[in-house]
Amino acid sequence: MINDLFGGIEPQQTAQEKLAKGAVLLRGLALDKADDLLTAIRHVSSASPFRNMVTPAGHVMSVAMSNCGQAGWVTDRSGYRYDGTDPETGQPWPAMPDSFMAVATEAATKAGYLDFRPDACLINLYEPGARLSLHQDRNERDMANPIVSVSLGLPATFQFGGLKRSDPVQKYALLHGDVAVWGGPSRLCYHGVLTLKEGEHPAVGRMRLNLTFRGAL
Ligand code: SIN
Ligand code: FE2
Repeated sequence: MINDLFGGIEPQQTAQEKLAKGAVLLRGLALDKADDLLTAIRHVSSASPFRNMVTPAGHVMSVAMSNCGQAGWVTDRSGYRYDGTDPETGQPWPAMPDSFMAVATEAATKAGYLDFRPDACLINLYEPGARLSLHQDRNERDMANPIVSVSLGLPATFQFGGLKRSDPVQKYALLHGDVAVWGGPSRLCYHGVLTLKEGEHPAVGRMRLNLTFRGAL
């Protein structure tokens, strides 16, 4: 019995860190897929370029965004929502690349969310100085779907808190290839990204890219 060799503990390929009930960090899960994901991001952003959107309060976001899939997350003076059309191009968002779908379903399954089929992926581009303040992902229709978040490029500090904005937050370094998944009891947990530090990543350059997969519609 192979288990006996390891004292009853099964060896795991990916280290799993628990963030909260229903939330895990899968360290390095996307590492061997990173080059394919980066190629696919280039493809998506050539059709729907990264842009800095405006919040309902009129602030220009420091994170630049694009989307792919059946719907994309957008914000403007009228509010936050999902839209099937890219407001910049007037065209549907680019289709979700197969490599995106594959990493999202693999991560969700590993985290215990067995039949997640995302219909939207928000792509965030952080340059040094960009940040994403504490927020909940709450524009999606069905909260039974988890959020799957893939980090590429420069390291960032991820804040993960509770269901109230005032709940204490824990901080985690998110590195190239790391994947975070939150759902179930932690689906509406507040989270954010601290100001990105200056740096140069060998594969990605002077930026961090993040994919968040959602069941939006
Ligand atoms: C998000 O909350 O939409 C993105 C989180 C991240 O960039 O890690
Ligand atoms: Fe979010």
